[in-house]
Amino acid sequence: LAVFTAQAQAQAYPTRSITMIVPFAAGGPTDVISRIVTGHMAQTLGQTIIIENVVGAGGTTATTRASKAANDGYTLITGHMGTHAASVPLYPKLAYHPEKDFEPVGLLAGTPILILARKDFPPKDLKEFITYVKANESKVNAAHAGVGSVSNVSCELLNSILGVKPIGVPFNGTGPAMNALVGGQVDYMCDQIVNAVPQINGGTIKAYAVATAERNPSLPDVPTTTEAGLPAFQAQAWNAIFAPKGTPADVVAKLNAAIVKALEDEGVRKRLLDLGSVIPAAADRTPAALGTLVKNEVAKWTPVLKPVN
Ligand code: MLT
Repeated sequence: LAVFTAQAQAQAYPTRSITMIVPFAAGGPTDVISRIVTGHMAQTLGQTIIIENVVGAGGTTATTRASKAANDGYTLITGHMGTHAASVPLYPKLAYHPEKDFEPVGLLAGTPILILARKDFPPKDLKEFITYVKANESKVNAAHAGVGSVSNVSCELLNSILGVKPIGVPFNGTGPAMNALVGGQVDYMCDQIVNAVPQINGGTIKAYAVATAERNPSLPDVPTTTEAGLPAFQAQAWNAIFAPKGTPADVVAKLNAAIVKALEDEGVRKRLLDLGSVIPAAADRTPAALGTLVKNEVAKWTPVLKPVN
């Protein structure tokens, strides 16, 4: 009977609204990407998807909560390169493991990293930025979204390439960090492109370079790090949906199909592309492909990042 009940439940799923935990503040990249894709998924699934922003500890507070949620498909999380990979080596006491405590559901978007600064930060290009930050390392500060966040990990990578240790200024997400950059309260930041495109195009911040091999079509005037003289700095993050471990396979399959349908929708694609995201190729959209990505990313970051506690 229990087996039949579980099967019937999975067939009927979803019969009520779904909560999507976003581990950072509203208005940041994780939140924006989640809202774009889940807006379409909700139509496919015939149920509301409620975004719940749960902030703290570079996204690990929310991810811990999601790992312990009921594995019935009604609580999900949009995680990323930080929460589901870099956090492993950074937090030795992490209360979850991205591979053991979650079912991968589907990749939403790739997000190139940009080196950004407040509008009136003196350096006018990346070469000047490098010289300036090296000369003023005890005075300059870099905003980020908490230890283990993408902005933190990617700027740590940049800072280690430059051999500098600026003052880090943590926020609950790069939504609020971006506000501080626009307001001139912080000097620079490494952020995922979706957060930055509207501000760069609006002229409220500076972009020195995009850390990918090619320029991004949404920012044709922003040089790559290679063009700007720092080829060693290459960084692209990713955002994806995860369910607590043990969520039934047919529920995961339904959610994945809804993600795939969203990623094929012209309106969704346009919104993601206009914000500079990279839409995953068809082969990268399966739960198994996301599982492999997480495994590879944990293996990639583990030897690079040092524990914080
Ligand atoms: C990050 O740095 O991890 C993200 O930008 C967080 C966010 O979505 O605000």
